[in-house]
Amino acid sequence: MGLFSSLFKKKEVVSNLTDLSGLGLDLHSHLIPGIDDGAKTLEDSIMLIKGMRQLGFKKIITSPHIMSGGYNNTPEIILSGRDKVREAIKEQGIDVEFDAWAEYYLDETIMPKIEKHSLMTMGDKYVLVELSYLMKSFSTTSYFYSLITNGYKVVLAHPERYPYYHSDDLDEYKMIKDQGVFLQLNIASLTGTYGQGARNAAEKLIDNNMIDFVATDLHNTRHLSYIKDSVKLPYMEKIINYDKLMNKVFL
Ligand SMILES: [Fe+2]
Repeated sequence: MGLFSSLFKKKEVVSNLTDLSGLGLDLHSHLIPGIDDGAKTLEDSIMLIKGMRQLGFKKIITSPHIMSGGYNNTPEIILSGRDKVREAIKEQGIDVEFDAWAEYYLDETIMPKIEKHSLMTMGDKYVLVELSYLMKSFSTTSYFYSLITNGYKVVLAHPERYPYYHSDDLDEYKMIKDQGVFLQLNIASLTGTYGQGARNAAEKLIDNNMIDFVATDLHNTRHLSYIKDSVKLPYMEKIINYDKLMNKVFL
């Protein structure tokens, strides 16, 4: 292969990004210690936050799980954890803004919270929700409907990770978006961290301009290394430069 063609080839497969600062902020991670399956200690939290700062994030909105029977977190627990992490960030002199909302698992326990308008939100009443990875629930559409008719803007976490939504025509995703739901891609899906199916779905969603938000969903250091790997991927460059990406609504 000649010099020219090898340069050309290289340009095809490697991105021009040096970090992820173009995203503006991160809106999905698990960095409050000891309350879900993310950071276990305050030291973990600080190490991960330093890693994110090195990747170019100056604002981190973390999102502990709220899942009935799994992670029985409340806004009070989350906000008090946020304040402890903020304190540690300050002590360490890390130049990063830190806030918290939640990642709600969608099941029937969401209904009283919708009615009481007690969900944790960010920006103009955005709420982050996740679904089962194993089984499609036929109630999902009605939960979306209840959220939206009560004034919430729904952000669906990692749509590419739900195998029952995978199809060549992206029909399931089109229906969800038609309902008014925003789609949030996990960066590590692009590196194949969650399997080839999730990677293919992620790339197809990007190719069809269907992604609204991009986030790390960072849980631990192993995960951080996959996110670092994403910087060199052409699909990462493509989504970071997508002009309708909505991350910055939370700046
Ligand atoms: Fe998450």
